Amino acid sequence: MAADYSRGAAAATGPLLVLGLETSCDETAASVVRLDEAGGAEVLSSVVHSQIDDHQAYGGVVPEIAARSHVEMIDGVAKRALADAGVGWGSLDGVAATAGPGLVGGVMVGLSYGKAAALARGLPLVAVNHLEGHAVSARLAAPAPYPFLLLLVSGGHCQLLEVRGVGDMSRLGATIDDAAGEAFDKIAKSLGLGYPGGPALEKLAEGGDGSRFDLPRALLGRKDCDFSFSGLKTAAARIAQTADTDQDKADLADAVQSAIARQLAERSARAMDLYAERHDHRLFVVAGGVAANHTIRRVLEETAARRGFGFLAPPLKYCTDNAAMIALAGAERLRLGLASPLDAPARPRWPLDEAKAASDPLFKAGRKGAKA
Ligand code: KG4
Ligand code: ZN
Repeated sequence: MAADYSRGAAAATGPLLVLGLETSCDETAASVVRLDEAGGAEVLSSVVHSQIDDHQAYGGVVPEIAARSHVEMIDGVAKRALADAGVGWGSLDGVAATAGPGLVGGVMVGLSYGKAAALARGLPLVAVNHLEGHAVSARLAAPAPYPFLLLLVSGGHCQLLEVRGVGDMSRLGATIDDAAGEAFDKIAKSLGLGYPGGPALEKLAEGGDGSRFDLPRALLGRKDCDFSFSGLKTAAARIAQTADTDQDKADLADAVQSAIARQLAERSARAMDLYAERHDHRLFVVAGGVAANHTIRRVLEETAARRGFGFLAPPLKYCTDNAAMIALAGAERLRLGLASPLDAPARPRWPLDEAKAASDPLFKAGRKGAKA
């Protein structure tokens, strides 16, 4: 396999204009981001075509449908991102495309498009880890100086990471079964809500009072920073069968949302304690689709405040999948003079902390691998 990044040029100076492409799941997205020399990011355009309508009938993302839709959309979405930003191909300093982890058929579409554009226009290519995109997403709207503690919580991932710099991270904990977003989606499905379930469940929970349900508290008291949501999912699915009225359903939705928020806060608090032993500058960042949930943002912000951590979450539109975060991750690499070869592979699995993943017996075959 080709090296992920090589030092193709000296570290870039001056503002950098990068086109980002994102096709790893069910959003075809493109964005132009400008990174100034001081590290400030400006999103000049962010186009996201959601395939939700294509997948809704199936209650989840169908990989073949996703890949075909990416093929149909990518050229138009990329050109619209350039037009919205008011820039031509000639003004760009590089192209950044998600190269994994994700549904490989979709990843290949965006990555191949990025390679073709880079080759045709003589631009450097950066093959971006989708999770690194989420990791930098809070930096799209506010300065988030390295290092920081990151809770990355989305439909496919749930992990706590110490982020020391561009691509320099170690994992403090991860889910041992489902990701939090996956739990939201599956429980929402058992409540008869559409896909994606997270936003629908949040809305339903607004009119509910979950105090009447006693849902399991996974891994309580454990000293590590791992997560588990499968027990909650099973318990909630069982209760959902007897939830007859709209009020029952709203109450259960509220109980589920609170239970997920509580677990995220408990494990994050543990990670904050570990992190604080090593770093004086204490910043806690939450990113990924589940970070769009208002209750979860509030509970995590309170947890951070109690432990003397600053708190940062991306604006809602940059929590769920987008290409602005991919463009920024690419620009930060180009700033250091790092680019990818044109034969960079699409990687269905690509852990952020490769050292940890390599030493983890669960990684290769276990479910933890796919989620971490
Ligand atoms: O980051 P993302 O767009 O895709 C992945 O990389 O996985 O995250 C999508 C996930 C879905 O599971 C969705 O249900 C969840 O984020 N999500 C939410 C909310 N908005 C999106 N979960 C809870 N509350 C929300 N408001
Ligand atoms: Zn994502």
